[in-house]
Amino acid sequence: MESQSSTPNIADLIQSDRVHGSVYTDEAIFQLELEKIWYKTWVYVGHASEVPNANDFVSKSIGPQPLIMTRGRDGVIRLLLNRCPHRANQVCLQAKGNRGSFTCPYHGWTFSNSGELRGFPFPDGYDTADRSELGLGQVNRVAEYKGFVFGSFADEGPSLEEHLGAGGRDAIDRLVQTSPEGEVEITAGFLQHRAKANWKFIVENETDGYHPQFVHASIFSIAKSGIGDLYSSDSTAVARDLGDGHTENDLRPEFRRIDKPMNWFGTNEARLPDYVEKMKAAYGEEKAREIMIDGTPHVMIFPNLFIAEIQIFVIQPLAVDESIQHVTALQFKGAPDLNRRLRQQTMGSVGPAGFLLADDSEMYERTQRGVKSKMPEWNYLGRGKHRERRDEEGFMVGDATDEVTSRGIWRHYRELMEAE
Ligand code: FES
Ligand code: FE
Repeated sequence: MESQSSTPNIADLIQSDRVHGSVYTDEAIFQLELEKIWYKTWVYVGHASEVPNANDFVSKSIGPQPLIMTRGRDGVIRLLLNRCPHRANQVCLQAKGNRGSFTCPYHGWTFSNSGELRGFPFPDGYDTADRSELGLGQVNRVAEYKGFVFGSFADEGPSLEEHLGAGGRDAIDRLVQTSPEGEVEITAGFLQHRAKANWKFIVENETDGYHPQFVHASIFSIAKSGIGDLYSSDSTAVARDLGDGHTENDLRPEFRRIDKPMNWFGTNEARLPDYVEKMKAAYGEEKAREIMIDGTPHVMIFPNLFIAEIQIFVIQPLAVDESIQHVTALQFKGAPDLNRRLRQQTMGSVGPAGFLLADDSEMYERTQRGVKSKMPEWNYLGRGKHRERRDEEGFMVGDATDEVTSRGIWRHYRELMEAE
């Protein structure tokens, strides 16, 4: 089989337990992904807490397309294309700020933060221009789930709630209840990790429970947290395919088995007395204890939002072999002592003081080079196929280290790529 084809046949390249290397390297497949996935399905863009006030804005993206997420004077969040309708310059170069309009730096056209063209210099030169047609483009559908803002370029299709499904919604519900006020805030600022690798390596890796013991051995041995043991064949944690490409490493069975808060932030009175007190007041003693033992979810919402227990990672493909992960510490409303700890842990694990994400990135770049080699042509994803089973909610699950999550991602990917 040719590794680069001009008319890729997806059905030939994705089988139930293996994928062909060209799905990570073929430019024609990447262009098809933009059309069938990134510029069609719901994609996570940002969080409402990043634009709390009227006229706030923040620069975002859907795939390679730059966007501006604005909150208008009417309070409505919009996703504007950061592309001047005049001659394609980027109209906004700032990461974030507060303003009611944007002026393109090229020829000075000005747009309101709801996208309308307000005016251009020397207006007599455009006597026939219809201003109503010369506003900024907008993402067709914008929807929010508990503050998480998603956009879809398709005018119609499943609602955001349908796209998230029971599994995706449950992950966000579990996340927000970690706050005594039931809200997540994205206020800690973003780190950016760029890798010369295809975006799908990253999506697959986020809930791959097979690699942590090896790739992250150094950080686990230094941290001595016991977290690494969650990803072993002795663990009672499970890998779960939540459907629609969403996947999970569910660590709760193991946390419940040992019956103490062993999650990333080790919530207990000695470490976080104020937080624990507020949680008990908000939820009652028993429920608060349950929430703190279970910890936050480890869930990948296809195609680009990874809820990584104490951070979120937002995956952005730039090219077939180049991607960025935008990473920030989660902050929970009403929990300043926990939030301080989460910022420190983020800096020490995936920030400048830690190797957790850099170790993964090295794998992405090496595998990107690996799939270009002539033989073998396939990547094998069959671990645990013989023992995958349905849980009581009907989701396919496997042991902690099984590749049930990768198989779920590829099944959904194939459906999207083959859709009309
Ligand atoms: Fe924006 Fe000309 S490209 S004003
Ligand atoms: Fe990893």
